[in-house]
Amino acid sequence: MDIINAIRSRKSIRGYQPDPVPKETLREILDIARHAPSTLNTQPWEITVVTGEVLDNIRKGNIEMLNSGATPESEFPYKPYEGKYKQRQVELAVQIFNLMGIAREDREKRAEWMERGFRFFDAPAAFILSMDKSLDESAMNLLDIGAITQTICLTALNYGLGTCINGQGISFPEVVRKFTDIPESTRMVVCIAIGYPDRDFPANKLETRREPVDNITAWCLE
Ligand SMILES: Cc1cc2nc3c(=O)[nH]c(=O)nc-3n(C[C@H](O)[C@H](O)[C@H](O)COP(=O)(O)O)c2cc1C
Repeated sequence: MDIINAIRSRKSIRGYQPDPVPKETLREILDIARHAPSTLNTQPWEITVVTGEVLDNIRKGNIEMLNSGATPESEFPYKPYEGKYKQRQVELAVQIFNLMGIAREDREKRAEWMERGFRFFDAPAAFILSMDKSLDESAMNLLDIGAITQTICLTALNYGLGTCINGQGISFPEVVRKFTDIPESTRMVVCIAIGYPDRDFPANKLETRREPVDNITAWCLE
């Protein structure tokens, strides 16, 4: 797949076929994606691959936490969105709920939908990206994690795989640590659900809107 086609066609996949992704494929994706750029070549990423029983245990643990009323918490500071950012967030939710046939007032279905994220969208595999605690949350470090995250997602397309970058899967860090070797000396930044897309899953038809170039660009040419 050529790079422009990959960038244009990448989208979040929130419904997967149950087929496992071969370990060699997951490895190959990481082997390619590790060429992503990073500040001063610091390569601040540590990646944990979870599949099978481990991933199932994390899913179950996450849902148990949710059902117990625990509050999901990122290992990085989080501030709710405001203004146009909030508007875009709402627009996304409306688009997804429309595609999934979930009515605004249907609390039960909305809660069920939210659970999907905590179940890694039932993907057969996921990458968890962590960063050593000696690294702070400066723009540079998090940009580096972003660079490899997008590179992984683009590379996955070459193998017929879909991805969904998400924070939900790791928002009960103690659950993830219970079933993996992710040390307390690192912080989980983000995770990527990965698998073969279920082409019939309604939310996978979502085409998210982007601002036109002229709305996001200032030209200072003279
Ligand atoms: C850092 C990051 C965190 C995200 N977290 C979630 C998430 O928790 N749940 C989810 O459904 N999508 C999540 N997404 C996916 C975004 O909603 C998605 O990228 C955005 O709506 C644009 O749609 P697209 O990926 O289909 O182009 C996340 C994306 C990024 C980059």
